[in-house]
Amino acid sequence: MERAFWKEGVVYQIYPISFKDSDGDGHGDLRGILEKLDYLQGLGVTMLWLGPVCKSPMEDYGYDVSDYYEINEPFGTMEDFEELLREVHARGMKLFMDLVINHTSDQHAWFQQASSSREHPRRSYYIWKDGVAGAEPNNWMSFSEESAWKLDEQTGQYYLRIFDVTQPDLNWEHAPMRHEMYEMIRYWLDKGIDGFRLDAINILSKEPGFPDAPAEDPHPRGQRYFKNGPKVHDYLQELHTEVFSRYENIVTVGEAPSISMEEAVRYSAPERKELSMVLLMEMIGMDVERGNPWKVRSWRLQELKDIVNRWSKEVFGKGWYGTYLSNHDHPRMLPRYGADGELRELSGKMLATFLHTIPGTPFMYQGEELGMTNVKFSSIQDYRDKNTLGFYKRMVEEEGASEQEVLDMIQARSRDSARTPMQWSAEAQAGFTSGTPWIPVNDNYKDINSEESMKRPDSLFHYYRRLIALRKEQPVLAYGNFNMLLEDEEHIMCYTRTYKEKTWLVLLNFADHEVTTRWPEGWKRDSGQAVAVLGNYEGLPAVEERGLLKLKPFEAVIVEGETRAFR
Ligand code: GLC
Repeated sequence: MERAFWKEGVVYQIYPISFKDSDGDGHGDLRGILEKLDYLQGLGVTMLWLGPVCKSPMEDYGYDVSDYYEINEPFGTMEDFEELLREVHARGMKLFMDLVINHTSDQHAWFQQASSSREHPRRSYYIWKDGVAGAEPNNWMSFSEESAWKLDEQTGQYYLRIFDVTQPDLNWEHAPMRHEMYEMIRYWLDKGIDGFRLDAINILSKEPGFPDAPAEDPHPRGQRYFKNGPKVHDYLQELHTEVFSRYENIVTVGEAPSISMEEAVRYSAPERKELSMVLLMEMIGMDVERGNPWKVRSWRLQELKDIVNRWSKEVFGKGWYGTYLSNHDHPRMLPRYGADGELRELSGKMLATFLHTIPGTPFMYQGEELGMTNVKFSSIQDYRDKNTLGFYKRMVEEEGASEQEVLDMIQARSRDSARTPMQWSAEAQAGFTSGTPWIPVNDNYKDINSEESMKRPDSLFHYYRRLIALRKEQPVLAYGNFNMLLEDEEHIMCYTRTYKEKTWLVLLNFADHEVTTRWPEGWKRDSGQAVAVLGNYEGLPAVEERGLLKLKPFEAVIVEGETRAFR
């Protein structure tokens, strides 16, 4: 397996509007990030993924770009950006940016021109269709659960928008648009950034003919025709040839929802020259009903084991992927996959151990290192996300559901839960801003904040620091072969990673109670010098008579032993 910085490192995702405000307008900014670079360097992360900062009306918080060449004013200036990049590099870290090229904002000059008349040369930059019998061109749905088409009154045609109505999809069939896009991407790489996270990248190519989808299709309807479309790999290969291949040591990460293992390899196998990796998106949706993003379901550890097993067998080494349990599009991982209350940090450490020791590059999301948890705003007034507000309106006003019932669903599922300001200290507004934050802070900031975490040697923050350091020092975590053990255990995940002469065994208890299990076959504890490399309790798990092993609530431990004993 060829070595690469992006296989060995750890990514830290910054959601700029909520990270740190430097000028008191309640809105995170680039100078705020600059203030916190020493903090990030101290944590040890090697790559920063900077969420969208280009000019934008912020209908979708920057995923709606109105000018790719400018920094959105509330975030700062291009000089601030360049200084940030220099300072990131001076600290030995990399910085990659979000690249949103499936759609633009409807405020982008291209769309303004395209919608000005059917004859405008930029008309074909977007996807326009005539209505059928006075209705939409087909029955596809957007992620915001309405028709994916919007009638443009002025020119009498519909434009396609898979996301918000203010985010028209670009027409990738149209070569002049693609080439103008490539020029823009080179502009950023020429500045010296280290790559991109490519937003919604498997949606670029749509099925020609735009056929209707079966009515019973899962949400959003029509995705079979706009995800992983027939030309998506051609576009990515062209993008690689025209742009990425001209720069050394960059990383390109594809956000590609609903892909099979084969597709994941197609996007990320080095010989195909498309992307460095794709994100493994299955783990984050485990507790959600398929086809209904607002409905929580209970999940079993077997499902998670199955995902980890499949990706490590079928993608790891052939292609590459990034792993995560939190980002800006989902509620936070605590308590979804761990616990709140007394076991919050312990469970956070267990999940962190999991993420840093399975195959794939770990992506962490701001505040994860503090164990930040989900908010429960008691009024819809405090929510900001358009999808969330749209859902509320539809349910309460159109479907007559009770406000409390809908609010409960929103509290459990809104992505705003992950978007509340980063909790820096116990001071007013969690030390995020001297003004009024754009969205309220989580009121648990007096207990959960970075100042407190950094002071306390046994905190989650320091555990992340040790894990990240371990990953940097130990190629076994990036490149080691993966082997799942104790597969039938209900609450325990257990696996080995083996690289050259080293084998590490990882034991994780996903339950909030003590669990008795057995030593995995082939592993004799007394045959070697087993040592705990890192864990969230002291030393090795307790061994009972007859080789039974007791794992405490959410216990996690990485064990090094004599290689022969495991093989
Ligand atoms: C991606 C982003 C999400 C955004 C969407 C549209 O899924 O992560 O935040 O709303 O694309 O750009």
